[in-house]
This record gives sequence, C-alpha cells and structure tokens, in this order.
Amino acid sequence: MTQNRIYLDHAATSWPKPEAVYAEMDRYAREVGAVAGRGAYAEAMEGERLVRRCRADIAGLLGESEPERIVFTQNGTDSLNLAIHGLLRPGDHVVTTVCEHNSVLRPLRFHQQKRDVRVTYVRCDGEGFVSPDDIAAAILPGTRLVAILHASNVTGAIQPAEEVGRIAAEREIPFLLDAAQSLGHLPISAKALHQPLIAAPGHKGLLGPLGTGILYIPPGLESRLESLKQGGTGTRSDEDLQPTSLPDKYESGNLNVPGIVGLGEGVRVAVHRAHGNEERSLCRALLEGLAQIPGLTLYGPKSHVRRVGVVSFNLAGFEPQELAALLDSAYHIQVRAGIHCAPRMHQSLGTSPRGTVRISVSVGSTTYQDINTVIEALREIAAS
Ligand SMILES: Cc1ncc(COP(=O)(O)O)c(C=O)c1O
Repeated sequence: MTQNRIYLDHAATSWPKPEAVYAEMDRYAREVGAVAGRGAYAEAMEGERLVRRCRADIAGLLGESEPERIVFTQNGTDSLNLAIHGLLRPGDHVVTTVCEHNSVLRPLRFHQQKRDVRVTYVRCDGEGFVSPDDIAAAILPGTRLVAILHASNVTGAIQPAEEVGRIAAEREIPFLLDAAQSLGHLPISAKALHQPLIAAPGHKGLLGPLGTGILYIPPGLESRLESLKQGGTGTRSDEDLQPTSLPDKYESGNLNVPGIVGLGEGVRVAVHRAHGNEERSLCRALLEGLAQIPGLTLYGPKSHVRRVGVVSFNLAGFEPQELAALLDSAYHIQVRAGIHCAPRMHQSLGTSPRGTVRISVSVGSTTYQDINTVIEALREIAAS
C-alpha cells in the first residue's frame, strides 16, 4: 500500500480517522475489553460509561436531550433497514426520490414485491435538487412514510429537508432522513427538521470506524417502529419479551463497543467541523479547478453553497472506471467510479449505465494541495 496516497473517497468512508479514534479503540481493546451494560465489575462499567458518553454526544450533535433515542447499528444501511422494515405494513404507500441510495431503494423494492407496498419516486431537477412541492403532491391518503436523503452521494446536492419535514409533520407521516452524507458535515437539528428518523453511518462524517452506525428515533415513534431483532439486552432478563424501552428495544446482542468507543472520539472532532465552512471552501476550490479542464463535464449543483464535499464528473474519451484507475496508478489519487449505489440518480443525470467519477473531500484530511494535485493530474490526462 502506498503511504503517499491522496485519499479522496471520504463519501465511502472517512480516512484517516482522528488519532484519538485509534488510540481509544486500542486502549479499550487492550485494557478494558469487557462487554457494556452486562456486568457490575469495573471494566464492564467502564464499557457502559463510554457507550453512554458516545450516545449522549451524538444526541447533543442533533440537539436532542434524550440520549436513549440514539440506537447503535452496524452502518447506515442497517439504520435505514431498521427504519423501513420496522415501519412499513402491507399495502402502505411511500414517497421517496430518484436520488436515493440502494440502502433505501432496495428495502423499498423488497416491500413492493413481497408486501404490496406502493412507492412513488419523486424526480429531481438538472442540478439534483428535489422540490418540496413535488413531495407534497406525491403524498396520498395511504402514505405511511416519506424517505429522502439529506445530501446526495452522487451530486453532493443538499435537499430541502426542513421543508420536507414540515410537509410530513403537518400530515403526521413519519419522515426518514438518510443523513449518510450530511451528519458530521452540516449542522443538523432534529427539531428544526421536524423530528425525522435520522439514519447515518458512524464511519463517514462522524469519523468513527467501519462497523458503526446510528438511528435517531423521534419521540413517539418507538411505539410504531417494530424491532427487527430480538434477544439479550442486559435488561429485564427475567422476561422473554423484548423490552419496549429505548434503546434496548432495538439493540439486541452485545454492542460493537470497541467501534462505539472509537466513534465517540470521532464525534468529538466532527462536531466542530460540522459547524465550520472549511468543507465548502475545499469544494469551491475543487469545482472551480475542475470547471477549467477541457472536456470535463460536472454534474450536480453549479454552486458550492447547497452542496457537501462530493463532486461527480466525467472526462470526454474516458470511461469512469478507466479514469479512476489511471488516477490511482499514475498519481496515487484514490477516487470512486461507477454508479455509487444510486441507479435512479444516474438515470436522471443521463449518466447510466457507466456512472461518474466521484471525488469526495473531508475537512482535516483533504488539503488545498490535494485539490491542486488532482486538478493538475486531470488537466494532464485531458491534454494527453
Ligand atoms: C446516501 C447514502 N446512504 C446510505 C449509505 C449506506 O451507508 P453504509 O455504507 O454505512 O451502509 C451510503 C453509503 O455510501 C450513502 O452514501
């Protein structure tokens, strides 16, 4: 593996993690090494304390005062599956968008095929934005879920989540926000978004390790949201009924404590970044440089303002996979190419079936020098 790699695939997972993430995971594994919430000895209680702290910090990030509303999962996909499978009943109608990731599209498709659930896919405009009016117009009497992504992992477009949340709340329809590309990148207030379910990985913007994710359960929804797994929770162990209290209802089996300990450290760094403008500035420098390259087509919002640091493009004469491979082999620049698990998004952009090349940046890892290097590399390739 190359040490001098320029890693620009942060939308897949952030890397490197803050030093404290590695250090605390190592300390936990070597010195604590106990399960959390299931023992009265010092190490088990230390595990429980660290899990509680991480839960509270993530709740704080969302402006939520009840930490138990944060449920730990394995990744963003796991969180979205819990929300979708836990809420939908046969015959329900769902409003979603063409911008979604397969982690939303495929669970919905499953319900379409097996449970007679109907799904409306709301279109986006040429820049990748969804209109709240289109969401409102798609709602039917039987609509039981509105599910949209907050920021696109293809175009970087930030969707009008607040307005969509208001539309759903006014109609008392549960609202699921896929915050995979926004949590840790943007300030997110559950209250301002009208209390959606918020699904997010821990390993992207929150800077935690792979194998971590969260689902925020808004007040009242726990009575409607079924648990997908049942088992040991370390609480009410004399009963064979799954507890109904949060977070135990949705957290069966031992937690990924080493991962959550690392996530806790990541969140403490991410909280500062989410409120800064640095990602926007990096994105602006990248967009401005890419726009000057002959034969390069940019997709998504023209401005850096309503975008996270995710930029998709194609270069005339190159397949996306070929260009990504060339950037890696000749320049040690690591980007992603293809459909990025969002097939309907590419149908809308006109980039099916090959997709796009995607650069994604992260504050604290990506430098302006990295941006200049990738722009220079693409300029050289375009001129070759
Ligand atoms: C928009 C979006 N949703 C969901 C996911 C799934 O997250 P995870 O990889 O943690 O399962 C991703 C991951 O790339 C994503 O970009």
